[in-house]
Amino acid sequence: AGIVETSFHVKNLTANRLCEDHVITAVNGSLPGPTLRVKEGDTVIVHVFNKSPYNLTIHWHGVFQRQSQWADGPEFITQCPIRPGGNYTYKFHMIEQVGTLWWHAHSKWLRATVYGALVIRPRDGQKYPFVKPYREDTIMLGEWWNANPIDVEDAAQAVGAAPANADAYTINGWPGDLFNSCRPSKIYKLDVVPGKTYLLRIINAALNNQFFFKIANHNLTVVGEDAAYTNPFPTDVIVIGPGQTTDVLLTANQSPGLYYMAAHPYASAAGVPFNANITTAILAYPNATQTTPILPVLPAFNDTPTAFAFSSNITALVTSPFWSPVPQKVDENMFVTIGLGLSVCGTNQTCQGIFGQRMSASMNNHSFAPPTSMSILEALFRNVSGVYTTDFPDQPPLVFDYVNVNNSFNQTLLMTPKLTSVKKLKFNATVQLVFQNTALVGIENHPMHLHGFNFYVLAQGFGNYDPVNDSKKFNLVNPQERNTLGVPVGGWAVIRFRANNPGVWFIHCHLDVHLPWGLATAFVVENGGTPESTLPPPPADFPKC
Ligand code: C2O
Repeated sequence: AGIVETSFHVKNLTANRLCEDHVITAVNGSLPGPTLRVKEGDTVIVHVFNKSPYNLTIHWHGVFQRQSQWADGPEFITQCPIRPGGNYTYKFHMIEQVGTLWWHAHSKWLRATVYGALVIRPRDGQKYPFVKPYREDTIMLGEWWNANPIDVEDAAQAVGAAPANADAYTINGWPGDLFNSCRPSKIYKLDVVPGKTYLLRIINAALNNQFFFKIANHNLTVVGEDAAYTNPFPTDVIVIGPGQTTDVLLTANQSPGLYYMAAHPYASAAGVPFNANITTAILAYPNATQTTPILPVLPAFNDTPTAFAFSSNITALVTSPFWSPVPQKVDENMFVTIGLGLSVCGTNQTCQGIFGQRMSASMNNHSFAPPTSMSILEALFRNVSGVYTTDFPDQPPLVFDYVNVNNSFNQTLLMTPKLTSVKKLKFNATVQLVFQNTALVGIENHPMHLHGFNFYVLAQGFGNYDPVNDSKKFNLVNPQERNTLGVPVGGWAVIRFRANNPGVWFIHCHLDVHLPWGLATAFVVENGGTPESTLPPPPADFPKC
């Protein structure tokens, strides 16, 4: 195995999109930032220099960080931010994963422009479990904001309101040429050779939108998700939530021409109006005669049946060298409500959330507030008390009908306290989580992301989870493995993982509007009995608070 070493220079620059110049924060002068290309087994070393005016951390989304816990990156969970002018070296190993992951800032809304792909190929002498692609390419879906995203977040937080949506959606940093009268200076174009098969690595780097993605007239075959191989799954549409990746094979088997690849949001909030603009890029055959590319017909923004059919029918490739069977005995069974709520406005403030309070979000009515004095991981390692509490509940405090809520529900459920409460886990415990959407404020699809692990997706459904009947639907044979799962709109999902990685692992909604509202907690996994299962000390250049 080799070493991949590089530097990230993070600084502000002026970028032109939608015919306007705006200052953005970017890595090595590009949007998206640089693609890291590694092989399974490699050691990755990234020297990050923060020349931006913001606090910064980088998260390697989906990397397990075994024995490199201090490199995971979420601000105040594993590390204090790299201050403006500071630097920190992230060093970690790519193990037991092949496919596509990505990296992004994990500090406020900086990830709107601080993100890039992490491409993991098999180690030397090993192959993909599918036809060798002629070429590979990376398709990063994102959002473009005319305003500075950090200002958008701060302004909304100041008054407790919901922030605005993005001004455009992007493919590899460009909005495309369809909805905007402003002609783009660039549009991403993939030139194909007829008859050849391509591996496309699709990544959703958007802050707050899930997407439907299609390529006109072409079928796709899903072969991986979140850097785990899947059984080949043929489809003409992809649904992808923020944080997720989907690897697809595409064969250039259509008549020579120009075809749009396009994406638009799959509504995360049922019934809430949103901007359904399309972002486009072009798939081009040589010698095409037409001038206007063919546009795919995307599903309607609220086509939940299509989204569910896609995300619930994918299964794991159990012949993958990285597959391990689902642990059948559960040690920790948690029932966790996820949803929106409110927190108290404060006496001398005016708030613009519902009932004049602040918008909030919670897991089991705990609205997570990160510490500020020290990261939870450092407090764990140094045995410092008072930084976090370990009383995150296994069950929500009150029982009610989560989805068919009527006006008689207990209004106090809306008011979620701000706490830094985490859940402790024994090393190697098998943990099962039943996520249940609540409909107290709005019915949404929350893309839940777990750091440090992949989890098995055992079952998903709509309405209230029924422990007797729904547990019969568990796929314990070949469930898909993910690090991020969109819990169905007004529904539930059951996941399972083995806590075989000591450290502090953030679990949160990957809609960046819900993270500062508190839709998060962390798992604190105790040390096991061996050197490999013991949290190592922090590196010498670990940032101070
Ligand atoms: Cu991709 Cu905690 O994040």
